[in-house]
Amino acid sequence: MCGIVGYIGRRDAVPVLLEGLRSLEYRGYDSAGLAVIRRNRLQVTKTAGRVSDLRDRVDGRSRAPVGIGHTRWATHGEPNEVNAHPHTDAEGRIAVVHNGIIENAEQLRDALTDRGVKLVSDTDTEALAHMIAAEAERAASLEEAVRRALRHVEGTYGLVVLDVRHPGELVVARNGSPIVVGVGEAEMFVASDVAALVRYTKQVVYLEDAEMATVRATDFRTLPIDESGRRAAGSTVPTTVEAEAGDYELGPYQDFMRKEIHEQPEALRRALRGRLDDRFATARLGGIDLDARQLRSIRQVKFLGCGSAYYAGQMGALLVEELARIPSDAEPASEFRYRNPVVDPDTLYVAVSQSGETLDTLMAVQELKRKGGQVIGAVNVVGSAIGRECGSGVFLHAGPEIAVASTKALTNMAATFAMLALLLGRVRDLSAAAGQRIVAGLRALPGQMEEVLAAEPKIAEVARRFAAAEHMFFIGRVRGWPVAREGAQKLKEVSYVHAEAYQAAELKHGPLALINSSMPSVVVVPADELLGKHVSTIEQIRARGGPVIAVTSAGLPPSLADAVIGVPRGEPELEPLLLNIPLQLLAYHVAATLGRDIDKPRNLAKSVTVELVQGQQVRFGRAAGKRLLAPHDFAGRGAARAPALGELADHLQPASVLVLAACLAEPG
Ligand code: F6R
Repeated sequence: MCGIVGYIGRRDAVPVLLEGLRSLEYRGYDSAGLAVIRRNRLQVTKTAGRVSDLRDRVDGRSRAPVGIGHTRWATHGEPNEVNAHPHTDAEGRIAVVHNGIIENAEQLRDALTDRGVKLVSDTDTEALAHMIAAEAERAASLEEAVRRALRHVEGTYGLVVLDVRHPGELVVARNGSPIVVGVGEAEMFVASDVAALVRYTKQVVYLEDAEMATVRATDFRTLPIDESGRRAAGSTVPTTVEAEAGDYELGPYQDFMRKEIHEQPEALRRALRGRLDDRFATARLGGIDLDARQLRSIRQVKFLGCGSAYYAGQMGALLVEELARIPSDAEPASEFRYRNPVVDPDTLYVAVSQSGETLDTLMAVQELKRKGGQVIGAVNVVGSAIGRECGSGVFLHAGPEIAVASTKALTNMAATFAMLALLLGRVRDLSAAAGQRIVAGLRALPGQMEEVLAAEPKIAEVARRFAAAEHMFFIGRVRGWPVAREGAQKLKEVSYVHAEAYQAAELKHGPLALINSSMPSVVVVPADELLGKHVSTIEQIRARGGPVIAVTSAGLPPSLADAVIGVPRGEPELEPLLLNIPLQLLAYHVAATLGRDIDKPRNLAKSVTVELVQGQQVRFGRAAGKRLLAPHDFAGRGAARAPALGELADHLQPASVLVLAACLAEPG
């Protein structure tokens, strides 16, 4: 949630930093600050308010060629001006901005106090500024000073350091918290998120974990933080980011969730572009580096993800079974990583994640790799940890997803899995004619989605009618089941209305007892071979006085339910993608009717990169005084031993793990 930005080059740093911080506002923050070097002096400006307050306070009278900025979401110490970043040493030589959590901050602060250093804030980051300043007195370079100081640090960080005595450079370091370098002409940018720099450059280099860089206006060099030489420095060849500055702006919308719902047809077109092969009626997924023989040898496909990514995986599993006739299932990565899974070398594991940073999914990938599993990623954010850990896979091309609730990423996940299923099917028994039908069905989807989105006013009206309900059921069968689960999830997270998803046939085994006039059910009705069964589910619910909202591609008559929301008829296997859209809009408009903070639902964060173990935050790195290895080490880059599962379990007992709330996720 915290945000970092840094600049060095030919422009005045202040407006660049302020604009960068403004672009990071969507992540949420409680205070902001920046530091620049002017006339050989460090000038720090902070506020416990918004970036606009910072803009009003900052001294813009003369140009500053270098500076760093930060938006903070309080973790150590209250959200006030003193605790806001940047933090400096006593002399005002060094300034630091930092995302992450220093787990041994207490020890470091005590050691500094014992040496007579007066700490002014309650933060973990301030200790870093003092430590780097002390090292800088002895070290030959700022880079060396930062490196030496980091030897004493346990925990996670993405950080940027500014030194008055080295005004021609910024030093950055990454361990578990993203840092990206933006390459311009005679200027360089650094940030925790490309959102802060796409306005200025599309050429970026993502720092690897355990890597640092010295950034100058005209060049930069990367090097491992660990100077033992066991790791090589990462690449400095930039990649081009797809995102546009407008992706981070609301434009005519009031919130990002609605904007992103409406972006789905375009996002889907991007995901399909260049990947559908008419000649052979198949899909081309360049990131999957397996030939036909290898594809044929896959005996099972297993999707692993969390929350909506898991439900997308369920949609994927159905598609793989239907089109490729390969056994397939999905499992929450958060369960998989804890249950000592049997890893089968002939199974293709697919790690699914929008952010590419979800800790549970990342840990599942590491466990799989350690056991020799074959894992590919389906990831939206390029350069993210899961994408890098998997090494191969498919990008979702959904564009930046900013609202906490996932919408367009889920659509692109499901569409990508349809292409994977098609690819696997066509090296097996799926006929060319059937493949052609799926190719045409996929091509038709964006236009059909536009039709669904055009029905928004009607869906909004249904949402207003039912917004007062305290509970809702979401009912689906086979293809409709993951859709129902995702619909319930969306309603819960953005409107806080309790929602439960049930498989239609399971209703009679218990939940029917809850049906009454104050328990509306959203029933997902694809126009498939089970249509008669879906209709009978609606009748059973209505016979018990339960109101029904039917979401259907089957052209049901309005009299069949209390509200009927229609979607166009697609290829049966692909209909979940269409049926899901009205459920997103329903959740959105219920939340809007109830006046919820739609883009930032309470207790949730966009990417869940931490856990809470008995009241203590644990990411990776060290926990409870015992060394755990950083995730890239698990992957066997040859640098380090993989920890035994039991060693992990010592620290991360499933029973005591609470998935984390917003203020703790992506800490800074
Ligand atoms: C729901 C939602 C979450 C995420 C989950 C996984 O709308 O956004 O359930 O889907 O936290 O996140 P990623 O896909 O980033 O791994």
